[in-house]
This record gives sequence, structure tokens and C-alpha cells, in this order.
Amino acid sequence: MSTNLFDLHGKIALVTGASRGIGEEIAKLLAEQGAHVIVSSRKLEDCETVARLIKEAGGSAEAYPCHVGRLDDIQGVFQHIRSRHGRLDILVNNAAANPYFGHILDTDLASFEKTVEVNLRGYFFMSVEAGKLMREHGGGAIVNTASVNALQPGDKQGIYSITKAAVVNMTRAFAKECGPCGIRVNALLPGLTKTKFAGALFEDQAIYEAWMTKIPLRRHAEPREMAGTVLYLVSDAASYTNGECIVVDGGLTI
Ligand SMILES: NC(=O)c1ccc[n+]([C@@H]2O[C@H](COP(=O)([O-])OP(=O)(O)OC[C@H]3O[C@@H](n4cnc5c(N)ncnc54)[C@H](OP(=O)(O)O)[C@@H]3O)[C@@H](O)[C@H]2O)c1
Repeated sequence: MSTNLFDLHGKIALVTGASRGIGEEIAKLLAEQGAHVIVSSRKLEDCETVARLIKEAGGSAEAYPCHVGRLDDIQGVFQHIRSRHGRLDILVNNAAANPYFGHILDTDLASFEKTVEVNLRGYFFMSVEAGKLMREHGGGAIVNTASVNALQPGDKQGIYSITKAAVVNMTRAFAKECGPCGIRVNALLPGLTKTKFAGALFEDQAIYEAWMTKIPLRRHAEPREMAGTVLYLVSDAASYTNGECIVVDGGLTI
């Protein structure tokens, strides 16, 4: 038995939204700690690039496409995991959509539906499928990437913030009902992190400077700075941590 609490050798991990940004860094860090990582997003080619980088660095990984807003795709990735690996130890629900940036009263139905389908229905049924598989094998760990917007709705990000608040409650609901099956469920709530996803906040100098005045560390996060918390949550170091939502925001929400 390893004395390293963060050792993930022998673990099978699925990370959604792993082709870039926060998900890519989570996938790389879990692989560095020994997990076999299934790198997933909508675009297979981009996932293959990340899986190749992991393998070149000495890790173990494969790419598998899954649009988490599509229930058929969710079934597909879990059929693949069942037939190839027979089990899953770690799920990181990280892929999310934020198609609308504007006043909440102008939210169009298509943006509403896309945000709910990916961020809420997607996280939910990924967790259901993962939970069933983990239950068959004595347990596992699920981490949901939510957002500080779950606590304080972001300006012009109404429906996105609402889905992220729901992810916090989802985390606690799954933690409560799946804990008896040995499945721990926790969440990461990132603050402002430099990725394509947050592009709108970085491109507008006035918006960016306004954020900087609110963040005690006076800087944004790099994606890699989110990955350590996920490693902690999926590892034995967090063996008694369940239903917890960890804010990683440089102090923004103090
Ligand atoms: N960046 C921030 O400031 C910030 C702050 C708080 C929370 N977050 C959260 O952090 C998570 C990761 O975001 P990020 O900033 O790293 O964004 P990102 O760099 O834009 O990456 C998003 C990832 O999700 C994938 N993706 C998008 N829609 C998908 C779908 N329907 N199905 C499957 N994969 C999908 C993308 O790949 P494909 O295009 O190939 O699908 C990509 O791999 C999200 O949950 C986001 O809400 C980010």
C-alpha cells in the first residue's frame, strides 16, 4: 500500500471538458499521480492531443468523445468504460456551457436550454451512470466543477449562475445518497481563471480591471491552480470529505 495520500495508481478516471483549460490540467495532474485518464470533450481530435501529451510525459490516457448535453453520448461513453475497463474510480464533471452573456430578462430559450442541458442534465446523468458503476465496485469519487457564480450570480450570467448553484445542491444530494455506497461527491468552485471559457471577462479591459479590484490576490488564476484541489478531493487525502464545495478564488468571495 502506498504511503502517498495522493497516489492514484490503478485508478480509472474520466474527466469531461478535458481538451483544454481547467479540465486539461486536471487530466494531466491525475495522470501524473498514476491514474489512467479518459480525456473527454466533444472534439475527439483535441482530446487525442491531450492524451498524447499525457503519454509523452509518461502517463496513461486515452481519448473518448462525449457531448454531455446528449444523453446518447453519455450512454456511449459509459458503455465504452464498462466494456474496456469494467469500472470507474473517478469522475470529474467539468465540461460546461455559457452561451449567453447579457441581461437576464433578455435570455433566449435556446441559450436557456443549452445551459441547462449541459450544466445540469449533463452533470446529473454523468453522475448517475458513474454512480451505478462505482456502486458495483465498492465506491469512487466524483468532483463537480461548479463556480463562484453559484454563491454570487455573475453579472450578465444569470442562467449560467443558476445552473452552477444547482450543481452545488446536486453535489450535496449525491453525496448524501451515494455516501452509503462508498461514493464521495464534492465540488470545486473556481474563481476567475484564464481560459477560453472566460474570454469575455479578459477581453474587456474595464471588466477585467473591475475584477482585479475585487480579488485580494490581485490576479486571475491559471488553470493549473484549479487542478490541485481536484486531486485532493479524489484522493485518499480526502477520504472523509463528502458533500464539500471548495472555493478557489483568490479571496474574491470573502
Ligand atoms: N474559466 C473560469 O474563469 C471559470 C470560472 C468558474 C468556473 N469555471 C468552470 O470551469 C469548467 C471548465 O471551464 P474552462 O474555463 O476550463 O473552459 P474551457 O477552457 O473553454 O474548456 C471547456 C471544455 O469543455 C468542453 N466542452 C464544452 N462544451 C461541452 C459539451 N457540451 N460536452 C462536452 N465537453 C464540452 C470543451 O471542449 P470541446 O469544445 O471539444 O467540447 C473544453 O474541453 C466549467 O465547468 C466552467 O463553468 C470556469
